[in-house]
Amino acid sequence: MILIAVLSWMGSSAAAQDNLAATPPMGWNSWNHFAGHIDDKTVRETADALVSTGLRDAGYTYLNIDDTWEGQRDSNGIIHSNEKFPDMKALANYVHSKGLKLGIYSSPGPKTCAGYEGSLGHEEQDARTYAEWGIDYLKYICCQPPPSSVEQMQTAYTKMHIAIAKTGRSIVLSLCQYGWNRVWEWGPSVGGNLWRTTGDISDRYSVMAEIGFNQNGLEKFAAPGHWNDPDMLEVGSGGMNEDEYRTHFSLWAILAAPLIAGNDLTKMTPYTVETLTNPEVIAVDQDPLGKQGYRIAQEGPFEVWVKPMVDGSKVVGLFNRQRTAEQIRANFSQLGIHGEAVVRDLWLKKGVGVFKDSYSAYVPPHGVVLVRIRQK
Ligand code: GLA
Repeated sequence: MILIAVLSWMGSSAAAQDNLAATPPMGWNSWNHFAGHIDDKTVRETADALVSTGLRDAGYTYLNIDDTWEGQRDSNGIIHSNEKFPDMKALANYVHSKGLKLGIYSSPGPKTCAGYEGSLGHEEQDARTYAEWGIDYLKYICCQPPPSSVEQMQTAYTKMHIAIAKTGRSIVLSLCQYGWNRVWEWGPSVGGNLWRTTGDISDRYSVMAEIGFNQNGLEKFAAPGHWNDPDMLEVGSGGMNEDEYRTHFSLWAILAAPLIAGNDLTKMTPYTVETLTNPEVIAVDQDPLGKQGYRIAQEGPFEVWVKPMVDGSKVVGLFNRQRTAEQIRANFSQLGIHGEAVVRDLWLKKGVGVFKDSYSAYVPPHGVVLVRIRQK
C-alpha cells in the first residue's frame, strides 16, 4: 500500500514537472554579464527592464539569480542570503508583482562553483527555504568537488527533485552536468526539466558555434518537460556581430533550447531587442510539438538544419560558417516536401514566394537565413 502511494506520488510529481516546462523555459540569468556583481538592486532593475523592453511579453518570464547570492547557514542549518540580497522574500514579491518568476542557483556539493555555500546534506531544508521565499526555478550545478561517479550525481539530483516536490511548489529544475555521463539519457528520470549538455558558453562566435552545431544527434532526448540545454544566450553582450547573434538565436530556436538571455537588459541596442523579441523565431523555439531540430545536410562550412513544427511546416536554417557570403540550398526532398512549397523568411518577416523542389539564398559570413516552409 505504502509503496503504491509513494509510486503514485512520484508519478504525479513527474507529471507536474513536465507541465512546468512544456516548452523550453525563457528568461534571463545574471551570470553571463554580472557574475559576482549581481545584487538586489540589479535584479529589480532587470525586472523593470524585462517589462519596459517588451521581453516579458515576448515570453521571457524567469528572472534567474545565479551564483554568489548565498550567505551563511544559521545554527539550525537554514541558509540565508548574503548582504547583497537583504530580503529574498521581498525581492521575490517585487519580481512576482511584475508578472515574472524568480530563479535561484545552488550546488549538490558542499560548495558552489564560485565557492559559496552548497546544498549538500541540506536539500530538504533548502528546498523549503526556496519555496518560502517564492522561488520558481533552481539551477543546480555540481563542480566542487567534481562528482566521483554518475551514481553520485544521480542520487544528488534525485534528492533535490524529491525535496522540491515535497514543498508542493512548482519549481523548474535545471541540472548542470556539462554533458558528462550522457546526462540526456537519464536527466528526466532524476527530475530534470533541462540539463546542460556542454561547458560554459562565452561571447565569441567560435565558442557559440562549436557548442550550438555540436548539439546535432541529441534531438531524440528533448521533449516537452525535458530539454537539452546548450547554455545561456550571449545575444547583445557585445562580442559578436549582428549576423553572428542572429545565427546564435536562430540555432538555439531550432534546437528548442531554453532561451535564457544573459546580457545587460538596461543597455540594449534596438537590434538586440529586435533579435531577442522576434515573435516568429521565438515561435520556432516554443512550438508545442517540442521537437529539437537537427542537421540534414553539410558541405564544409555550410549547414542546413530543420525543425519539424506542430502544423506540419518545417523551419529550415541555412547556416554559413565561413567568413565570406555564399549561396546555400535546401532540397525539399530532404524535408519530406514534394513539388511546390510556400517559403517565409523569419528574419525578413515576409513571404519570399513559392518554390519548387528547393530553396536557396545568399547567406552572409557567419550568418543564417531562417525560413519556414509549408507544402503547397
Ligand atoms: C558554473 C555554470 C555557470 C555559472 C557558474 C557560477 O560554472 O556552468 O553557468 O552558473 O557555475 O559559479
